[in-house]
Amino acid sequence: MTEIVLPNDTNVFGSLMGGRLMYWMDIAAAIAAQKHCNAPVVTASVDNISFENPIKLGNTVHIEAKVSRAFNTSMEVHLKVWGEDFQHQYKYKSNEAYYTFVALDPNGKPRPVPSMTPETDGEKKLFEGALRRRQVRLILGGKMKPDDATELKALFTQE
Ligand SMILES: CC(C)(COP(=O)(O)OP(=O)(O)OC[C@H]1O[C@@H](n2cnc3c(N)ncnc32)[C@H](O)[C@@H]1OP(=O)(O)O)[C@@H](O)C(=O)NCCC(=O)NCCS
Repeated sequence: MTEIVLPNDTNVFGSLMGGRLMYWMDIAAAIAAQKHCNAPVVTASVDNISFENPIKLGNTVHIEAKVSRAFNTSMEVHLKVWGEDFQHQYKYKSNEAYYTFVALDPNGKPRPVPSMTPETDGEKKLFEGALRRRQVRLILGGKMKPDDATELKALFTQE
């Protein structure tokens, strides 16, 4: 997704508002998830987002969203965001994030999604890490006991 930062998108410092960016990210990520599962999706959770660099008025925002792993009814989407200053011809990183979506059936109940197979080294790394990130989310959301997060625990117990 590509957007241009217009005056109504900015804060008092002339930079893109975080809330507007998160809205665009939600849309881009939802489209990626829907393309993967061919079904309507809802946002289940959004991981921590740190804004590394402000995106200035008049600059362009690029958002790249890819499904990093599909589970049973949910999908993790990895997003990369960067700004581009056409006038001075440079690009700069804004942030990265993970959004989780759940596919719903016509009755609004979670429905299974197709699995996915990572191909590149980068995709494999994201795929592998997705299991641990999912466990963090479910623990924080009160849907998993820390004791059941085997892969996450292994990070702290490996020799
Ligand atoms: C997300 C939602 C569909 C989950 O429904 P649920 O009845 O709690 O379903 P379940 O507990 O069976 O979980 C369904 C899936 O959601 C995932 N999930 C639930 N809570 C989650 C969370 N906090 N973070 C990440 N994934 C979560 C589960 O892991 C499961 O995925 P899986 O099948 O791949 O393992 C439901 O809570 C919902 O509709 N929330 C509102 C969504 C919404 O309106 N979003 C817009 C923002 S307001």
